[in-house]
Amino acid sequence: MAFSPQFLDELRTRISLAEVVGKRVKLIKKGHEFSGLCPFHNEKTPSFTLNEDKGFYHCFGCQSHGSAIDFIMQTEGLGFRETVERLAEDAGMQIADETPEQRERERKKQTLYDVTEASAAYYEKMLYMPEGKHALDYLTNRGLTKTTIKTFRVGFSPNGRGSLKSTLLRQGITDEQMILTGMVIKPTEDRGRGMDSYDRFRGRVMFPIADRRGRVIAFGGRIIGTGEPKYLNSPETPLFHKGGELYNLHLAGPAARRADTVLVTEGYMDVIALHQAGFQNALAPLGTAITKDQISLLWKIVPEPVMCLDGDRAGQAAAGKTAIRALPLLKPGIGIRFATLPAGEDPDSLIKKNGASAMSDLLETSIPLSETIWRLETGGRMPSSPEDKASLQQRLSDHARAIQDTTVRNHFAKSFSERVSPEGKSGGNTYQKKWVNNWKPKSKGGWAPNMQMETAAGPATKVNIVKRREEILMATLINHPGLYNVLSESLGTIAFSTPELDKIRQEVLKMLAAKSGLETEALVNHLNECGYFSVLRSMLGASVYGHAYFSRPEASPDEALAGWNETFGQIKGKDLIAEIKEAKRDIAENPSEEAWRRFLALKRQKMEEAMDEQAE
Ligand code: UTP
Ligand code: MN
Repeated sequence: MAFSPQFLDELRTRISLAEVVGKRVKLIKKGHEFSGLCPFHNEKTPSFTLNEDKGFYHCFGCQSHGSAIDFIMQTEGLGFRETVERLAEDAGMQIADETPEQRERERKKQTLYDVTEASAAYYEKMLYMPEGKHALDYLTNRGLTKTTIKTFRVGFSPNGRGSLKSTLLRQGITDEQMILTGMVIKPTEDRGRGMDSYDRFRGRVMFPIADRRGRVIAFGGRIIGTGEPKYLNSPETPLFHKGGELYNLHLAGPAARRADTVLVTEGYMDVIALHQAGFQNALAPLGTAITKDQISLLWKIVPEPVMCLDGDRAGQAAAGKTAIRALPLLKPGIGIRFATLPAGEDPDSLIKKNGASAMSDLLETSIPLSETIWRLETGGRMPSSPEDKASLQQRLSDHARAIQDTTVRNHFAKSFSERVSPEGKSGGNTYQKKWVNNWKPKSKGGWAPNMQMETAAGPATKVNIVKRREEILMATLINHPGLYNVLSESLGTIAFSTPELDKIRQEVLKMLAAKSGLETEALVNHLNECGYFSVLRSMLGASVYGHAYFSRPEASPDEALAGWNETFGQIKGKDLIAEIKEAKRDIAENPSEEAWRRFLALKRQKMEEAMDEQAE
């Protein structure tokens, strides 16, 4: 739900900008204005001013400018919604302006949450009763630990027709409420008219489904052992709209924001197994193909969710469907990646067989949406006859046309047609050509990925572009430590955007300065020992190499150096201002979290540059 303009106005008038900013900056009052040392860049004399009446701050040093909302977003790294919610709370404002009908509906819903919560508590308790023992054994045999079972509040529904019902009745919950939440089934007119309602879930392992706030809204119940149907799910209810919810969103959301990636799997057990193996950022749709609503929900969390799909025919068809469904929604900087599991495996079985590292390896091989569409239409085989080529071109153009965003649409259209007819392609630098020729996918297949397409619409999301470039710089140096003498000075003058990457930067510089002739292997070993294992793993992998051929160990030192310099130049950012302007426009059009994150990343980069210049 968007905030109404009236609401935002009211909020601005109620909060004091000086008070908000004053928590971080020591302000001195000068007439109508306040001034202080700018929190956004390093300075010794105050150039940061604030006008309480106008509700804006402005820095004459670094040009940062904004309202109280902007200030909190930038200093705390919060999203727009979170910021508004927090300020509103401080100002004692009700978030939503509710009508009496809405309030009544909310009140009714509230009591329905009590029903689902009471059911979850009952099922959970029953798992540890004698009659639940076989269910608990089943879960234990599938490798779930006690902690995991508790974390996911897994339970057991006893076999009787009225086990849950009688328990809830005793708690004062009515039959009607149980029917409304789908916990019991009311016999229909033609089938068993006049009969009493009865428990929907009987003799099953119960997985509570929570909404994004962690409130239980529905259930999935698995048969113990084999049988049909394997899973029984709650019906659509006032609390539960299957297509708008994601299993485990309440736990995976925060974990995904931290990890900057989210894993979308197919089933309850996959999510749980992944969580136990350390992938706490896993979630799943609820037994259906992923919907547009769910895709949009995922993009609110990270710019590029990863779909983990079965390698069999059905899984591949699902990948194609998801890709096509996402096309109209694409925007610059957001996308979807697809990781394909070995046929017949799901994340749960893969981890059980080959451990958590098999899953990380698999994620490394994930491909962007554009590539998925390409493979869907080519079947991995480039047509040779002009007729087939024309027909392929037609199908690909149709897909590109489905994209509503003009920039992304043009990128896709151009990349697809260049890929179908590479002869007509103009330019393309040597790295790209080399990359296309030499790069062989880890999995078998006759296709060659297209560098230009990847940069146009694939993994190089704008949100992460700064970080990716930094990773490229480091990967290049680690793989070509001999370049240290030429690069060290430049690399020493910048700071990277994340603390972890910056620590690696400093560590590598330190190591290479201390010992000349140090080789890649020793460097990597040392960094692993310092605890940078997972960062290195992605830095020295396909996601980086795919964007920069020259960073690979196989590249020649000349190539590596040229590529490094080019990337360094990009980081120093000649057109940073233009990018920031564009990001600002994006925010005005669509004040999403993605847009803000991108904006903030760019601002941070600009600030660092300004600081560098000052230092120089
Ligand atoms: P799977 O058949 O892949 O099951 O269905 P699973 O999650 O791997 O479970 P285990 O490992 O066999 O226990 C994937 C998802 O599809 C939905 C459920 O959400 C399930 O988690 N599903 C499946 C149903 O809703 N009903 C079914 O009968 C089967
Ligand atoms: Mn499974």
